[in-house]
Amino acid sequence: MGGCSCDTTTPVRRCRTQRRRRVRRLGPTKWGEGIRQTMVIVGTDGGIKKVCKDVSPQGHAAGSDLSPEEVVMAYHERTKHHYHRSAASLGYMDWATQPDPCRRYAGASLVRLPLPEAGRALPYWQLYVADGPAPAPLSIDSISLFFRYALSLTAWKRFHDTTWALRANPSSGNLHPTDGYAILPALGAIHDRPGVYHYAPQEHGLERRADLDPVVWAALTAAFPEGSFLVGLSSIHWREAWKYGERAFRYCQHDAGHALGTLRVAAAALGWKLCLLDRVGDDAVSQLLGLDREADYAGAEREHPELVALVVREQWSSDRGLCLSKELVSQVAASRWYGTANVLSSEHGVDWPVIDQVAVATTNRRMAADEDFSRFPSEEEIFAAPVRSGACTAESVILGRRSAVSMDASTAIAAATFFRMLARLVPTRDGRSAPWDAIAWRPRIHLGLFVHRVNDLSPGLYVLARDPEKVEPLRKAMRGEFLWQRPPSCPPGLPLYLLKEGDCRALAASVSCGQDIAGDGAFSLGMIADYKDTLVTHGAGFYRNLFWEAGLVGQVLYLEAEAAGIGSTGIGCYFDDPVHEVFGISSRDWQSVYHFTVGGPVEDTRLTTLPAYNLEDAR
Ligand SMILES: Cc1cc2nc3c(=O)[nH]c(=O)nc-3n(C[C@H](O)[C@H](O)[C@H](O)COP(=O)(O)O)c2cc1C
Repeated sequence: MGGCSCDTTTPVRRCRTQRRRRVRRLGPTKWGEGIRQTMVIVGTDGGIKKVCKDVSPQGHAAGSDLSPEEVVMAYHERTKHHYHRSAASLGYMDWATQPDPCRRYAGASLVRLPLPEAGRALPYWQLYVADGPAPAPLSIDSISLFFRYALSLTAWKRFHDTTWALRANPSSGNLHPTDGYAILPALGAIHDRPGVYHYAPQEHGLERRADLDPVVWAALTAAFPEGSFLVGLSSIHWREAWKYGERAFRYCQHDAGHALGTLRVAAAALGWKLCLLDRVGDDAVSQLLGLDREADYAGAEREHPELVALVVREQWSSDRGLCLSKELVSQVAASRWYGTANVLSSEHGVDWPVIDQVAVATTNRRMAADEDFSRFPSEEEIFAAPVRSGACTAESVILGRRSAVSMDASTAIAAATFFRMLARLVPTRDGRSAPWDAIAWRPRIHLGLFVHRVNDLSPGLYVLARDPEKVEPLRKAMRGEFLWQRPPSCPPGLPLYLLKEGDCRALAASVSCGQDIAGDGAFSLGMIADYKDTLVTHGAGFYRNLFWEAGLVGQVLYLEAEAAGIGSTGIGCYFDDPVHEVFGISSRDWQSVYHFTVGGPVEDTRLTTLPAYNLEDAR
């Protein structure tokens, strides 16, 4: 059990859409964090409403005179956890206002997707290679499988009379701020006209939000190969802020990154490619997904636009930074729309204005043209062991992925397994390997590793530079006395270095908010972002991309751990500056943005696992 109090059994208010089934969802009670800091009480319509006082870390009012970059940096500083002061949050679980994890659009028709037969034999390793499976035709069955692997429920857990759902995509506190969308052509059993759909995970169905004019659809996708479609993601900040307060914006971005990873992997399982359309700005994403439709959200929590990505059935090397024409996007927005969003919490006991401020500040980013990967390693250079092999199926790994709530403090992994997991995190020069082919930018996230139990490898601190050209800048940024030694038997193309030998189990747990899972696994890590340079180069909006990239790294590690027969867990709760101190990082240029742990999981035998979609039958 983690060092933070872990109360996985607290019953919570039932999900409104689940009431009839007497199903309860379990609150995110595993890892508590934070305390409320500066609150003022103001009267609202007959009630009391708490508003977090809006100050920068230095105590200045965060106002419009700050540049977007300054707003972002101030947000990042004030949402750091310190040993003796956590980022501002309510400080207790306000169960009465717990948000519903199920967004639904009343009045939008629901197309139920046929549940795919289990047992697809596609080998797991094929998800990552450019010459993967033959592309599946676009149909209701393939769309169903796509969402099943990307965003669907994968299990229910039960403890006494409390039941809660888990999904293919992980989520900070299981709060699931991320909602998924698809913009599809006319498709057999789905609809005879193109449309915009919201994915409803609990029903495994698509809610038809808008009818698209076939002419508009054809023009919108004219530059893409036949049979392409778009997927989109939004975040409902309140879902995370309800528990985590100001730090919640970071978690929403992590979760979006994990979901981008599950979408890319789901596409790979169908032989499809997926790439983020970086240059489609937030306003256009809002218009495409209908998030800007005030009336549809009257009284309901708004969804913040995250991204749209293109899914193609064939190798496609056209300009990845392709924009969608403003004119056509406006025509999508002018379509006929259906449905009004449900209210997720009857009231919000507290507002966190800094989340709105950082959301506004991160609206715009400057994307470079496709970056140069020619000096990255090839698949052969980066993987020592034959990598195109393995007994696991893609499906068993994708649907079986789970967060470990506790690690056994004994399981050791082979060095080859460790190297292979890390190699998956480095884009290759030839095709860049999934999921890294989904994003256009070179890695900005590097790993500071705490190695505890890897056979034939000294325990200690290590670093993985995910961009080989960042070895030197990292060496300069980190503690001068570090060793920078190549571990024995490390594949030549893997930029992994031993920094310092020693037992760092207690240290790892300590900087991960005292959570034992960080010390009891085989290894844990902090994801060190090339923070300042990235914000200067790409603008404040790229703050979100850094967290997406961290989420992608985490998603690959989740799958790799599952494939290796062990467990893993994302760690959003860590003490920011103490992590920097461990690696001797004294400037703000590099910042840790996420933690992760991998090791031998301990099952919670008090819990019963139930199937995702036939709970009634299982009874
Ligand atoms: C961004 C992120 C941060 C997380 N942080 C923690 C953490 O600090 N401690 C922890 O025990 N679990 C953490 N988790 C794991 C979640 O609690 C877990 O994903 C969620 O309960 C759903 O379970 P599942 O991953 O098995 O689907 C985190 C997950 C994500 C995606």
